[in-house]
Amino acid sequence: MARLVDTYGRRIRDLRISITDRCNFRCLYCLPESEESADFFRSSSKAEPHPIHREWKPKSHFLSYEEIARVAEVAAALGVNKIRLTGGEPLLRRDVPKLIEQLAAISGIEDIALTTNGFSFLKNSVALQKAGLNRVTFSLDSVDSSNFKRLTGREAFKDVMESIIRAKELGFSPIRINAVIIRGLNDHEIVPLVRFAQDQGLEIRFIEFMPLDSGRAWQKDHVVTGSEILGALQAEFDLKPLELEHASATAKRWCVVGGGPEIGLITPVSEPFCGQCNRIRLTADGKLRTCLFSLKEHDLKPLLREETDDEALSQWLEDVVLKKERGHLIGQDQFQRPDRTMSAIGG
Ligand code: 5AD
Ligand code: SF4
Repeated sequence: MARLVDTYGRRIRDLRISITDRCNFRCLYCLPESEESADFFRSSSKAEPHPIHREWKPKSHFLSYEEIARVAEVAAALGVNKIRLTGGEPLLRRDVPKLIEQLAAISGIEDIALTTNGFSFLKNSVALQKAGLNRVTFSLDSVDSSNFKRLTGREAFKDVMESIIRAKELGFSPIRINAVIIRGLNDHEIVPLVRFAQDQGLEIRFIEFMPLDSGRAWQKDHVVTGSEILGALQAEFDLKPLELEHASATAKRWCVVGGGPEIGLITPVSEPFCGQCNRIRLTADGKLRTCLFSLKEHDLKPLLREETDDEALSQWLEDVVLKKERGHLIGQDQFQRPDRTMSAIGG
């Protein structure tokens, strides 16, 4: 059976699909509303003011759900077994349960997950679950409603809390929180975020801030590293390390002794894990990206629209995966930001 394996021997199992680049939040580290709102970063750094890099792809360029499902099916036949839907905010796209239904019907797909900001999860939750969604991750960087507003630009804390509670009631498991910690913004919330996860029975992942913000304000000193986060947690909790989930897992995991949430540290900046990467990404407008930081994208849309047969599509995927780069170069002189920002790639 054909397989998606790159030149470094990494086997691709995880397809992340962004279904829209739009978002209804304006997180400072992702899609700041304005240059002024990105000023938080600049005041603490030497960065030159830079216009917000926000370019929405026309919706008419988005792949249809049928096209996305076809790519997923061909990828599944090549060994992909896990799909994560991302955005922007994926639930801004209409009828997401219909897409999930199509993905869940593909043989070989064992796990379908969704990363959402939680704003629209409540009203979609039952339909998403019925359609076959297995897991949900909420992006939540603050458990303080006024800091949440500052961070996301939206008065939406209550909605997100209601969504998390509903996900629990419906029995989604595990339910995970992603938190990006930024110096001066929410580094005082590391312990409260874990306490919240503990009280609610959620997993939590801390993700280091990466240079993919549309404010282009990222500076190394804004990054609160995994080891700093661990230090802050160890001062408060008795932690024990957990085994790696699997060989390609990106998170170093810990848990609080005596019962508590699973805590993962994802350290792309301070300790890159590119050597184990098993992911590829599909953007809403049909570009395949072999790395978050790829400078080159591979346009899948023409193939999908030219009635290319599955065998040719499959061959194309194999060839693209062979071009997967060894890893990113954050922190090195040669590092170059990709044009596309996180909101248009998906996490
Ligand atoms: N660095 C790290 N994580 C980010 N996210 C968005 N932008 C960045 C960034 N620049 C996170 C979101 C979401 C996940 C998809 O990626 O908070 O949880
Ligand atoms: Fe939207 Fe997520 Fe980016 Fe926040 S981090 S602006 S919720 S895409």
